[in-house]
Amino acid sequence: MAEETPPDPTLSHLLDHSTLKWIFVGGKGGVGKTTTSSSLAVQLAAKRRSVLIISTDPAHNLSDAFRQKFTRHPTPVEGVDNLFAMEIDPTPEQTDLAELDSGPNFLSDLTSSIPGIDEAMSFAEVMRQVQSFDYECIVFDTAPTGHTLRLLQFPATLQKGLSKLMSLRGAFGGMLGQLTSMLGLTEDGNTTEGLLNKLDSLKNVVDEIGRQFRDPELTTFVCVCIPEFLSLYETERLVQELAKFEMDCSSIVINQIIFPEMTGSSRLLEARVRMQQRYLAQFDDLYEDFHLVKLPLLEEEVRGTDALLSFSKSLMRKYSAAASADLAQSSEDDLRQELQRLRQRCLELERQLASHK
Ligand SMILES: Nc1ncnc2c1ncn2[C@@H]1O[C@H](COP(=O)(O)OP(=O)(O)OP(=O)(O)O)[C@@H](O)[C@H]1O
Ligand SMILES: [Mg+2]
Repeated sequence: MAEETPPDPTLSHLLDHSTLKWIFVGGKGGVGKTTTSSSLAVQLAAKRRSVLIISTDPAHNLSDAFRQKFTRHPTPVEGVDNLFAMEIDPTPEQTDLAELDSGPNFLSDLTSSIPGIDEAMSFAEVMRQVQSFDYECIVFDTAPTGHTLRLLQFPATLQKGLSKLMSLRGAFGGMLGQLTSMLGLTEDGNTTEGLLNKLDSLKNVVDEIGRQFRDPELTTFVCVCIPEFLSLYETERLVQELAKFEMDCSSIVINQIIFPEMTGSSRLLEARVRMQQRYLAQFDDLYEDFHLVKLPLLEEEVRGTDALLSFSKSLMRKYSAAASADLAQSSEDDLRQELQRLRQRCLELERQLASHK
């Protein structure tokens, strides 16, 4: 039987997959989630009618990556057609549910008895809004892993909240209304009925989004990591958790790689290369049926639209030393690399010439 060819080591399959609507980008802290999601969004924007990138990390860094201030509302990204960005904060403080938590009341006990219900409702609201904006593709720059996994649980959390409240309403009937008014809760929606109605109205949108998240034609998750032990370990945990959510995950970006030709004569870098190569071999073994995208560590941070545009190209092609020349951040770096390449070429030609003599 013919050997199966491994999946192409780039993210170009995501650009070609025209039905994809939700793309999550996640991984451990500091590995390059924002850089990867922003770069991917820039590439998608060139192909799709409209793309929205959303940061769900309370420590927002889209604004830093693009060097442009973003808010809770979609804002066009300067210099990139069809791309919009927004930064949301799916924490309870942002919602009117926070009011329910203040003071010793019946409802606060209720909401706190379902862990994460407030965050889930807040995220559901955001998703309802995002659905209504009608973007063709939505890229999520997520917070580090634990937070992201909690976020993805939101349909299940809301479902649980809803059935708990329903059963309470069934058990207490009209008494619940009397009790809430006796406890001094107002009638402006800040009652059990109000909460129930709110949960109920979100139910349809949440069910629909939950269904879409499990459909590989609509949703995929891109894991970002670096070739180090903790990151390899966390990637495996993430891949397993995503499988439990039944969310497609077929791409892993391994960022900040020092390729052997990058070491110059630094022994420190050579040692790092050896260490990284060990983990890269493990990634290759463990994830042979994934799109494994290997990105070089650059000398500079990746900040600003130009840097992202340049970096984003490396998501779409296999790394090669020659291609990496494009990634140089400044013309000075460009010239240095070009000079180095020409010097090496001269040495090669001299060697060839010598062997002819
Ligand atoms: N391949 C790379 N070469 C050089 N710098 C990089 C590379 N990838 C990312 N960076 C830089 O590393 C820093 C962290 O990257 P980034 O913000 O994308 O990580 P993150 O996973 O989103 O972090 P956080 O968990 O804090 O949100 C940024 O300053 C970014 O510009
Ligand atoms: Mg980030």
